[in-house]
Amino acid sequence: MKKSTKLVFYLHISKKSSNFAHQKLKYITKTTNIMSVHTQTAKVTTTTIRKMKADGEKISMLTSYDYTLARLVDEAGIDMLLVGDSASNVVCGNQYTLPITTDEMIFLTKGVVRAAHRAMVVVDMPFGSYQISEEEAVRNAVKIMKESGADAVKIEGGEEILPIIRHIIQAGIPVCGHLGLTPQSVNQFGGYGLRAKEEKEAEKLLHDAQLLDDAGCFAIVLEKIPSALAERVTNAVSAAVIGIGAGNKTDGQVLVLHDMLGLNTGFKPKFLRYFATLANDVNNAVKDYISAVKDSTFPNAEEQY
Ligand code: KIV
Repeated sequence: MKKSTKLVFYLHISKKSSNFAHQKLKYITKTTNIMSVHTQTAKVTTTTIRKMKADGEKISMLTSYDYTLARLVDEAGIDMLLVGDSASNVVCGNQYTLPITTDEMIFLTKGVVRAAHRAMVVVDMPFGSYQISEEEAVRNAVKIMKESGADAVKIEGGEEILPIIRHIIQAGIPVCGHLGLTPQSVNQFGGYGLRAKEEKEAEKLLHDAQLLDDAGCFAIVLEKIPSALAERVTNAVSAAVIGIGAGNKTDGQVLVLHDMLGLNTGFKPKFLRYFATLANDVNNAVKDYISAVKDSTFPNAEEQY
């Protein structure tokens, strides 16, 4: 059978089941050179991310903390899923990111990894898992990669933690840096305000970004800094720069999923856009359910055995 005939044949069969379709498209990816099919199903890697930067193609990233939502986000075509330590706030209800542990991050990441057929999965190294020593940082990064199945780790900080980042990269683990508002340092900053608005901090941030880039970080998150500075950093480094509250001149954007879905209506910083208002939908659905239970209209005749 000719390669093009094979493609039509498998696409026809695939209508029967989406799972089957996924398997067959994977097969097609391996057996043909058809680029449009290949790019739809191939896993995003550090090479893909570097190429997207080189080609000027914007990179989309969202946080995820569980299998069900990660599957929806992956199927929608996101490039990168971040199991952020914002899980400490979003999933556990803590005020800060500091309390979440390495084992809790691994538990959450396992579900996201099972859901991510295409997206690259990056996981935050939580507070206390890398700051103590290079040896402990590498041990924890290896544990996270081994037990969770993630594709890369993210670490907050610049020059101060450069030797740690170098050791983790030398262990063969891709590292995404994180500069600007680094929430694990909230107590040092005294809040979640805009970072690097003064010249001195801006110059340090630019210098830190260049050091992370030279150390081999494949990407750098810039959080809540002036957009002009984010643009300077983006032009100065070969790593892909992913912004949150850093303007639209970066190589990509990241948001906390629950924030952009409008599930967390108490939180609306200037940089956040609600792409949905799901808190209302959930509230209305639960109210409807309660009414239906109370007046015995749920379950109805068709909803019972
Ligand atoms: O933990 C997190 O969700 C993050 C993003 C805000 C970048 O680090």
